[in-house]
Amino acid sequence: MFEVEKVKKDFPFLQQKIHGKPVVFLDSGASAQKPACVINAIADSYTNNYANVHRGVYTLSDQATEKYEATRKKVQAFIHAEHLEEVIFTKGTTEAINLVAFSLLENYFNEGDEIIITEMEHHANIVPWQLIAKQKKLTLKYIPVTDDGDLDLEKLSKLVSDRTKMLALTHCSNVLGTINPVKEIIDQVKAKYNLAVLIDGAQSVVHQRIDVAALNCDFYVFSSHKLYGPTGVGVLYAKKKWHDVMTPYQGGGDMIKEVSMHEATFADAPYKFEAGTPDIVGVIGLSKAIEYIEKLGFASIQSHEKVLLDYATQRLSQIKGLRIIGQSESKAAIITFIIEGFHANDLGMLLDLSGVCVRTGHHCAQPLLKRFNVPSTVRASFGVYNTLEDIDLLVKGLEKAMKMLS
Ligand SMILES: Cc1ncc(COP(=O)(O)O)c(C=O)c1O
Repeated sequence: MFEVEKVKKDFPFLQQKIHGKPVVFLDSGASAQKPACVINAIADSYTNNYANVHRGVYTLSDQATEKYEATRKKVQAFIHAEHLEEVIFTKGTTEAINLVAFSLLENYFNEGDEIIITEMEHHANIVPWQLIAKQKKLTLKYIPVTDDGDLDLEKLSKLVSDRTKMLALTHCSNVLGTINPVKEIIDQVKAKYNLAVLIDGAQSVVHQRIDVAALNCDFYVFSSHKLYGPTGVGVLYAKKKWHDVMTPYQGGGDMIKEVSMHEATFADAPYKFEAGTPDIVGVIGLSKAIEYIEKLGFASIQSHEKVLLDYATQRLSQIKGLRIIGQSESKAAIITFIIEGFHANDLGMLLDLSGVCVRTGHHCAQPLLKRFNVPSTVRASFGVYNTLEDIDLLVKGLEKAMKMLS
C-alpha cells in the first residue's frame, strides 16, 4: 500500500502555497523536489563533515572521502554495475554524454563511422554527437518515431551496419513518456555488430529498477536531480572494457598519477574521468536520495505512478480539443499534450495562478516536436508525491484557463 499523503509530508517544498493555493507540482520530469532526508544530509555535511575529498590526512577529510566513496558503492548496487570503478560522477546526464562522446573521439571513432540515435532524444543526446560528428566527419542517423510515439524498430535493422560505432538512445522519452525496449534493442544490435550502446537513463532511473549488467549496455547515464537528489551531480556508468579506450575528458587535479612540465600520466578510472573538486556534498545527498527511493521500493512507486498515469490520461482525454502526444502502450508517468486553439505557454502561465506547475515549450526535444508538427506543448510529469487530487486540480486549472482565454 503506497501511502502518498505520508510520502508528500517528506517533501518540505510541497507544504507551501503559491498564489494562495497549495502547490501542485507536476514538473518532476524537469527536476524533482527533494525529501527532507536529502536536505538534512546536505545541511549536515556542510555543518559537520565538510572538507575536500581524496586529499587530506586529517579526520574530517577522511570522513568526507568515506561518505563520498560510499555513495559510489551505493550507486553501483543501485544500478547493478559489476565493478565499482564503472561508476563515474559527473555534473549530470548532459556532462556524462559529452564525456563519453569526446573521450571516445581520439581512439575509437574514425572518419566515416556512423552513430545512430533516435528522433525522440533530448538535446543532451543529440548535440554532443553532432559536435563530434563535425570534428571527425562521422555520420549521424536517426531511428524514426511512429505516430503513437514508439521507436520504429523495423527501420533499425536497415540503419545499423558495420560502420555503426555507437547507438545512443533514451530509455524513456522526456516528452512522450515512452519506455523503449532497450534490452531487446541491445540484444538485437549486439548479436550482429560490434558497437557501443549508450542509454540515456535521465527519465527512466526514477521510475524503474535499472540493471546495467543485465542490459549489457556499455554506458548508462542519469542525473541526481531528477531522482529526488541534489542538482549538480550525475552518474556515468562506463563498462570497464572502455576505460582504456577513453581518453580523459578534462585535465586537472585528482585525475593524474604524475605531472611533469610537459607530460602527465593519468590515474585509473573512475578518477581519470573526475578532474577537479567534485560536488562532494551533492554526491553525499544523492546517496540519501537513493536510500529514500529504495525504502519506498520500485514496485510500489511503479504501481502508484501507473494509477496516476491512467487517471490523468482518462481525465485529460475528456477535455475538448486536447491531444496527447505519445500514446505508447509502454509509458512512464509523463503526459504531454496540446489543446487546439490555445498556446501552451498561455495555459502554463494561467495554470501557475492556480498553483499548478507544468512545463511548457519544446522540452529540449525540438526534432521530436517537429516530427509531431507541434511547436510547443504542455507537459505534466508525475513523481512519488503526486495524488489523484493533483490531477483533478490540473484539469480544473486547464478548464479555468481555457475559459479565460476564450
Ligand atoms: C531524457 C533526458 N536526457 C537528458 C536530460 C538532460 O539532463 P540534465 O539537464 O540533468 O543534464 C534530460 C533532462 O531533462 C532528459 O529528460
